Amino acid sequence: MVTLENIFSHWVTEKYLQRSGIHHAVTVAETAFSLARERGLDTEVTTKAALLHDIGHYEWYTDGEWDYDEYRKHDIHAIKGAERAHKLLIRLGEDRVKAKEVALAILLHTDSYLPFSVEENRSPVQAVVAEADTLDEQEGGLHHYKSMDKMEALQRLQQLDQEIFLSQDINVNIF
Ligand SMILES: [Fe+2]
Ligand SMILES: [Fe+2]
Repeated sequence: MVTLENIFSHWVTEKYLQRSGIHHAVTVAETAFSLARERGLDTEVTTKAALLHDIGHYEWYTDGEWDYDEYRKHDIHAIKGAERAHKLLIRLGEDRVKAKEVALAILLHTDSYLPFSVEENRSPVQAVVAEADTLDEQEGGLHHYKSMDKMEALQRLQQLDQEIFLSQDINVNIF
């Protein structure tokens, strides 16, 4: 199984996840895991999508300042992220069905770039990723600037990997 640790340790993640912030990625992954477990959803796919949901961001700020209007005009981070995460997961040897589910949850975690709303049409897993993201959002995109030490992030993701494993084990025992 491709773990969150495998994903986090890959150079592609290292390069691109920094842009939107490791703190935001790890926090959203933890929230999404809890919501998925509560709702009896696939904790592995949900948590992977949550960790990678903002991997498509480009460097949107100039001189350290966040320009929200400019960002809104040009942003396609959900599209870029879906593709980037899919490629990364396939490289790591991920199951193709899971890789597609992760990519779709990333594509639909926001609809601010689309001319229509997807709010009512998200699958339960996609809805959890969007919800976990919104729960960590702060005005002016401040959630992207919170810092987290890489070692701390790795430890928290290792913990999540174990919890995902245990939650899957419970499902296996029940059914
Ligand atoms: Fe996003
Ligand atoms: Fe986000």
